[in-house]
Amino acid sequence: MGARRRLALLALAVALAAAAATTGHAGVTSPYRRKLEATADMPFDADVFRVPPGYNAPQQVHITLGDQTGTAMTVSWVTASELGNGTVRYGPSPDKMEMSAQGTHTRYDYFNYTSGFIHHCTLRNLKHGVKYYYAMGFGHTVRTFSFTAPPKPGPDVPFKFGLIGDLGQTFDSNSTLSHYEANGGDAVLFVGDLSYADAYPLHDNRRWDSWARFVERSVAYQPWIWTAGNHELDYAPEIGETVPFKPFTRRYRTPYRAAGSTEPLWYSVKVASAHIIVLSSYSSYGKYTPQWTWLSDELARVDRKATPWLIVLMHSPWYNSNNYHYMEGETMRVQFESWLVAAKVDIVLAGHVHSYERSRRFSNVAYNIVNGKATPVRDLDAPVYVTIGDGGNIEGIANNFTEPQPSYSAFREASFGHATLEIKNRTHAYYAWHRNHDGAKATADSVWLTNRHHLPTDDSK
Ligand SMILES: *[C@@H]1O[C@H](CO)[C@@H](O)[C@H](O)[C@H]1NC(C)=O
Ligand SMILES: *[C@@H]1O[C@H](CO)[C@@H](O)[C@H](O)[C@H]1NC(C)=O
Ligand SMILES: *[C@@H]1O[C@H](CO)[C@@H](O)[C@H](O)[C@H]1NC(C)=O
Ligand SMILES: *[C@@H]1O[C@H](CO)[C@@H](O)[C@H](O)[C@H]1NC(C)=O
Ligand SMILES: *[C@@H]1O[C@H](CO)[C@@H](O)[C@H](O)[C@H]1NC(C)=O
Ligand SMILES: [Fe+2]
Repeated sequence: MGARRRLALLALAVALAAAAATTGHAGVTSPYRRKLEATADMPFDADVFRVPPGYNAPQQVHITLGDQTGTAMTVSWVTASELGNGTVRYGPSPDKMEMSAQGTHTRYDYFNYTSGFIHHCTLRNLKHGVKYYYAMGFGHTVRTFSFTAPPKPGPDVPFKFGLIGDLGQTFDSNSTLSHYEANGGDAVLFVGDLSYADAYPLHDNRRWDSWARFVERSVAYQPWIWTAGNHELDYAPEIGETVPFKPFTRRYRTPYRAAGSTEPLWYSVKVASAHIIVLSSYSSYGKYTPQWTWLSDELARVDRKATPWLIVLMHSPWYNSNNYHYMEGETMRVQFESWLVAAKVDIVLAGHVHSYERSRRFSNVAYNIVNGKATPVRDLDAPVYVTIGDGGNIEGIANNFTEPQPSYSAFREASFGHATLEIKNRTHAYYAWHRNHDGAKATADSVWLTNRHHLPTDDSK
């Protein structure tokens, strides 16, 4: 390229950048680039994977809501040597755990792996907002943990969610979890792809165990709301494993029955001022299927006066301007986007793509098979779409964005991190994304969201 041509192109680029800055419509593709190589998984003997001391000690302890609002909490754990005692004792003080519940247990085989004894026990009759201590492992090694039951749902109940996806168990995953802990949320909305055990030969299920030991330090103390990702499928007919989601559904429970669902992979919960709908990208969602029917009924049950914020979780994003997993979410978008726009969903969270992206309020629902109107347009009824698949797993960063940045994309960056969503009241919520490179406290992208039902202003500026 000649020097004059280069200069002309440079001038053009400067002019375009200036035009973009003045019109304010151009999205930001952040220039920051994290190192591109995938970091290794933490080795089995890493501190975060340590088996707790004591004979048959409960390990991999995790909690999630046991009903729709958190007056029940399901506690899960694994015992390795023998079944042990399935009782959980609980109560408002560590020396007064006078309530108790009896759990159930399961085991599963996966090729030549046999799981430990997987216990699930739902603690009921909890009071909203009260701190509870709970203990299990009676007869062998007793371990005690605590959590605070979520506040009673209502229109102006502040609550802080952590948003994490595609976590895995690398050194980067450990940074992501550490930064989330430092930022201090009350519960995690997890958008799928937990352990990445399937990255190993024979889907080495010992990596499901190590992952659960790794995240115990957070999820034993606050509920994580689970979404199924493609790495939960563990569908491997070549080794005779043909039951999709086998390890995931044996190990992780969701309160789907309380939500009127017939499958654990799609359900809803109501936490503080939010109604949260979880969808499964890897289950059928065509017309008349169980997920389609359930979502149709569920959207009719949403009461924005009681729970103003409507949040939808899924794994595969609908608005993704990254060449990785490009348009994989398209069929589900075509099926459901018009419903979410009509319902004025506030925010849609997805993972899957290992980078970060936030959209403006756009929709693409005018198209039908004869009119050709297939371009996304500004739409204040539409949700903000966030892709938060940047938890830091072994597959590395997705650093190849489409060019130019589409108009619906407000901010995108190929770095690892997590986000937080702080609901303040019925009209305002503060959303912030934290890249791991900057430590926990710095915010790389943030926005005040206004509620689509109670204050549907243009909040994208
Ligand atoms: C299990 O532990 C509970 C609580 O300490 C106790 O009441 C119960 O008897 C134990 N069950 C068995 C079978 O040991
Ligand atoms: C399962 O099979 C693999 C491959 O043959 C082998 O490396 C591994 O040790 C086996 N695991 C068990 C628990 O037998
Ligand atoms: C993971 O992070 C925790 C908390 O920051 C730290 O104590 C631990 O040593 C880290 N482990 C590894 C293997 O990096
Ligand atoms: C980015 O993705 C495009 C479209 O898939 C592909 O043609 C291109 O080679 C990719 N670039 C890099 C650097 O991987
Ligand atoms: C809701 O929260 C926002 C942000 O903190 C605040 O500016 C606003 O005044 C609050 N609204 C009411 C009615 O308190
Ligand atoms: Fe994924």
